[in-house]
Amino acid sequence: MGNHYLVTTAIPEPGLQLLSDAGQVTVLPDPPDYATLAALCASGDYDVVLTQLRDVIDEPLLANARVKGVSNYAVGYNNIDVDAATRHGILVGNTPGVLTDATADVAMLLILGTARRVVESDRVVRDGKFLGWEPEFMLGRDVSGAVLGLAGFGRIARAVARRALGFGMEELFSPRPPGDRPVSDEELGEFAGKVRQVPWDSLVERSDFLSLHVPLNEQTRHLVDADVLGRMKSDAILINTARGPVVDESALVEALRNGVIGGAGLDVFEDEPRLAAGLAELPNTVLLPHVGSATVPVRAEMARLSALNAIAIAEGRLPLHPVNPLSRA
Ligand code: GLV
Ligand code: GLV
Repeated sequence: MGNHYLVTTAIPEPGLQLLSDAGQVTVLPDPPDYATLAALCASGDYDVVLTQLRDVIDEPLLANARVKGVSNYAVGYNNIDVDAATRHGILVGNTPGVLTDATADVAMLLILGTARRVVESDRVVRDGKFLGWEPEFMLGRDVSGAVLGLAGFGRIARAVARRALGFGMEELFSPRPPGDRPVSDEELGEFAGKVRQVPWDSLVERSDFLSLHVPLNEQTRHLVDADVLGRMKSDAILINTARGPVVDESALVEALRNGVIGGAGLDVFEDEPRLAAGLAELPNTVLLPHVGSATVPVRAEMARLSALNAIAIAEGRLPLHPVNPLSRA
């Protein structure tokens, strides 16, 4: 009956209910490998496929796909070749907005957690090595007064900026590193006079905490490489809640090991779920398993939006949150 939705991995309610109210739903029992997903998309059996970040939707898959659209269960869509989708008349939707605050919370958590050595401290207590209060035990850094550098100034960066102002941080940003784009006071809105735009080079050199909030694309892949790490302050802390490949993770391990920078708080990795050799052994890191959006209400909202995007596409409308450049879609 009606439209048929292919869901590559079960999503929370109300997502599956919305889809089954709108048509027929097939949820794959296991995450499909590339060849399986390509064959399913080419079969002509499905109107829309609802994908996860791990599903690679590239040009060859899209060229053979007989679907109207791809609805990604994420705000980021670096797993999808959007230009190819547009060329093949395939619509793409994503789930922006609903995960902004949750992800900004995790960025703040990593800032505080690295500054105050939360992982090391927790381990000391669990290992029975907490021997009582001492004047010079487990000393960390102050967040108040420290310079927070925001690489990117989209929704999530702004939500981090708002939080960090509450913590008394001094804030700098570069809106589109490594390039530049002047941001007017009008565009800055509530942040005018509170955060200062600087070129990417200065952001790198002046930040005590450098937090990444850029999409992954050809301009931002390895944005933070050995050269950038070498220009950071020797006690600076790198925070990444965006995408792993924005950082050269092997270079980061070297930099952390050799005291080139002070620490790192990471929610994303270059080759998830694998970690660069040596990363897990470094004490000056806080490592999280890509949980920026992982709250019960946020994942439900992402499910709702991704289902509504899929239904709209299947029914011949635009998704609520379209990713294709619409003049060409
Ligand atoms: C998660 O990383 C997302 O892009 O939603
Ligand atoms: C993503 O939602 C961003 O704009 O930062």
